[in-house]
Amino acid sequence: MINRRWFIGSAAAGILLPASLARAAVKTNPFTLGVASGSPRSDSVILWTRLAVDPLQGGAMPAGDVVVGFRVWEDAERRKLLREGTVIAPEADAHSVHLKLEGLRPGREYWYAFTLGDFESPLGRTRTTSPDAENVRLALASCQSWQSGFYAAYTDIAAWAPDCVIHVGDYIYEGGIGTIGSRTVAKTGETLSFRTVRLHNSAEIVTLWDYRNRYALYKSDRALQAAHAAAPWIVAMDDHEVDNNWAGDVPQDPRAQTALEFSVRKLAAFKAWYEHMPVERPPLIDDISASLAMNDVFRFGSAQVHLLDTRQYRSDQVCGEGFPGQAPCKQYGNANRTLLGAVQEQWLKRELRASSARYNVLASQIWLSPWRFDAGGDAPEVNMDAWDGYPAARERLTETLADGIANPVIMSGDWHCAAAMTLHERPFDPSSRPVAHEFAGTSISSDCGWMREMEDSKTSNPHAHYLNARKRGYCRFEVGTKQWVTTYRVVADPYVADSPLSNDVEMRLADL
Ligand SMILES: [Fe+2]
Repeated sequence: MINRRWFIGSAAAGILLPASLARAAVKTNPFTLGVASGSPRSDSVILWTRLAVDPLQGGAMPAGDVVVGFRVWEDAERRKLLREGTVIAPEADAHSVHLKLEGLRPGREYWYAFTLGDFESPLGRTRTTSPDAENVRLALASCQSWQSGFYAAYTDIAAWAPDCVIHVGDYIYEGGIGTIGSRTVAKTGETLSFRTVRLHNSAEIVTLWDYRNRYALYKSDRALQAAHAAAPWIVAMDDHEVDNNWAGDVPQDPRAQTALEFSVRKLAAFKAWYEHMPVERPPLIDDISASLAMNDVFRFGSAQVHLLDTRQYRSDQVCGEGFPGQAPCKQYGNANRTLLGAVQEQWLKRELRASSARYNVLASQIWLSPWRFDAGGDAPEVNMDAWDGYPAARERLTETLADGIANPVIMSGDWHCAAAMTLHERPFDPSSRPVAHEFAGTSISSDCGWMREMEDSKTSNPHAHYLNARKRGYCRFEVGTKQWVTTYRVVADPYVADSPLSNDVEMRLADL
């Protein structure tokens, strides 16, 4: 469980301090970043915390690994103790804990806490999965720019306490420090106004130190901590956990960073992501190259959820930087271009074909359904960073889904814009056979500066049944054995930390 290949700049890494020594060395609360659980299975779950007495300064923990106590209960009142023990928080992993709790019962709630000396972490609630669960509640979250708004959506998720939170990326943003206050964006017929409500803690993040402190900043938020403490999460990073619109080994701006610099940066970003997420598998490090095993499959009652990695193995974007839409060019239709990579593509096909679930979910960072910004014709202007920019890869996936897979449902994020859409066999031809339903969540807090372009192009996209780019929030999914209900929850005011939320729309899914 402990990744011992990692010893970045730390001669002391790997030295195990007796618990008494560790206790003596920590004089202030080390549980400043809360607790989390994730990767829920029918018999296991990962429990997470990270010790950090000074979270924005690398944690400032004493040198050496630290022994942390843990307890697990079967009730929220902590009367029925199920298990207790110790686990190591390795210095090499920024004193994070990834404890795999095994031998659990399916479809059950558990409560847990960590201790170090006299300090105790907040109490976390988690839940194992069950293929037999008759009603499952899932939340979909993404895009939580710290500077652009508060996390009222997470307070609402915590209160709902779903079976699992599915996070499809942009957990952090890599950019530098903004300016508090309002800014306006002039569009035809309307001036949009956005606010920066709080500031990042450093210039654009590049090093392991930077990424750790950025995660610590985001994780200092009480609402985000509450949502982690309320339910297990499954997480897949998108672009901003590393660099805007990166693809495989290519950064957003290859002229500003060499291939070597980007490789080292990606390694730092992957390592810090692991250190702060309730996931089982650390990055695989080969010299200065890092990779993450992120794609995975989970079973929640009637839904089999395939968590995709649409960033790490993709071919680079083509045709230019037109935003939000870009006209296609010669390379656009190249059949060799991939989004999932050949290995993941085959894995997904195998999992889908073997699934016995009534609903087969793809949790994709980016939209799978098309969105054209032009009025019509054979050369649609699209977002080249989404599946729209990879038509051959989408065609292969659509063919797989159309070939007898029961009720494909897509969950996606990235675009800061809520939309419910139908994916058709020929994506830009709504008269062709419907293959999947897609629920794109809006953002937890990130702006949608292109809301007008989305609204203005809605009539060119008749496969979209609902669109709301003006509100922040998240999606709730209630999955029964016979029905699926999606509810779009929206934040009244993203610039107010304790803003209320309400239902924007509720949809029932018809079988495909
Ligand atoms: Fe985003």
